[in-house]
Parts: sequence; structure tokens; C-alpha cells
Amino acid sequence: MENSLKMSHNVIEECVNSGSVVIDATCGAGNDTLFLAKLAKRVYAFDIQVDAINKTKEKCANFNNITYINDSHENVLMYVNDMVDAAIFNLGYLPKSNHAIFTKSAATIKAIEDILSILNKGGRISIVAYPGFKEGKEEKEALEEYLKTLDQKTYNASKYEFLNQINDPPILYVIERISL
Ligand SMILES: C[S@@+](CC[C@H](N)C(=O)[O-])C[C@H]1O[C@@H](n2cnc3c(N)ncnc32)[C@H](O)[C@@H]1O
Repeated sequence: MENSLKMSHNVIEECVNSGSVVIDATCGAGNDTLFLAKLAKRVYAFDIQVDAINKTKEKCANFNNITYINDSHENVLMYVNDMVDAAIFNLGYLPKSNHAIFTKSAATIKAIEDILSILNKGGRISIVAYPGFKEGKEEKEALEEYLKTLDQKTYNASKYEFLNQINDPPILYVIERISL
């Protein structure tokens, strides 16, 4: 439980098995894709930056169960036709890269909505948001408003935040499908 990224992996690990199809919606430097590739049958890894796709390919060179997609996650249904057990969103910008390229709430929410349409019962979406910069805070607020609208008979939508850390630490949101 030391940080939101670790908590995100813990939450996802519980709903993924060797037969699962899963999505990394923002593959960045490839840490989440690598984590998923060790657990699942097939990982769809999205990023709008070709640099991020290349970094992820390098990090995951030993795995042949990853489909790399250099496109926005808002187009997820153009590429993923299977039902999925999990998706990871790690929002914001890629550290040590161009900080002007970051996730935006409209695309993030569209992608979440589309993934919910192919999420198996018991499946989960984890979203780590970064309110520590202006646009990240706006995205987090829009995301939270959207998550509050999800039907509670179909989904559990929850929020995990550290209360005693300074400088607006990352926040983990989790959506779990509890019925079809
Ligand atoms: C915090 S980084 C992701 C870190 C990554 N998950 C890892 O494990 O290293 C956020 C990434 O989101 C990507 N991104 C921004 N908007 C996107 C979009 N609409 N679709 C897909 N990726 C996007 C950025 O290019 C950036 O690489």
C-alpha cells in the first residue's frame, strides 16, 4: 500500500488470470504493460506518443502477448473486440519526457465509457490521477464527477487517497463491474 501505483497493481492482480484480455490505456514507459503481460493472455497497450510505444516495446521485449497501439485510448473499440477483465489508466504526462503531452478528461472519460461496454463481470478499471498540476487537477475533478454518475447496481466506483502526504499526491480510482 506504499503508493497509488502499487495499490493499482494490487487491485488489478485480483481480477486477472492467464486467460484474461486486458488493456493498458496509457503505456508510457511500459511499467504497467510489463506488469499486465506477466499475468494475462493478451495485453492491448495504447499511447499517443511513438516514443512511449518504443519504450514499452523495449521494456517488454521478452513478451509476445502484447498488441501495441499508437493511438488515443478514446478509439479503444476500433482495436479491441474481446471482452476484457481489466484496464489500467495512469494519467498525466510521461516523466522524463514532454510534459506538454498529457491525458485530457474528455478522451479519458470516453475511453472509460467504451471499456465499460466490454468489461466482464468482476472486471476492474484502475485509474491513477495526478492532481499535483493544474490540468491534472481539472482532469481529476471531471473524472470524479463522471464516476459519481455510474449506476451503483452495475458498478462499484471507489477512491483511495493518502490523507497525510503533502503536495497533492496521486489518487487511485477503481471501477468494478458487479453485474452485467
Ligand atoms: C503517466 S504516463 C503513463 C505511465 C505508464 N503507464 C508506465 O507504466 O510507465 C501517461 C501517458 O499517457 C499518454 N497519453 C496521453 N493522452 C493519451 C491518450 N489520449 N491515449 C493514450 N495515451 C495517452 C502519454 O503519452 C503518456 O505516455
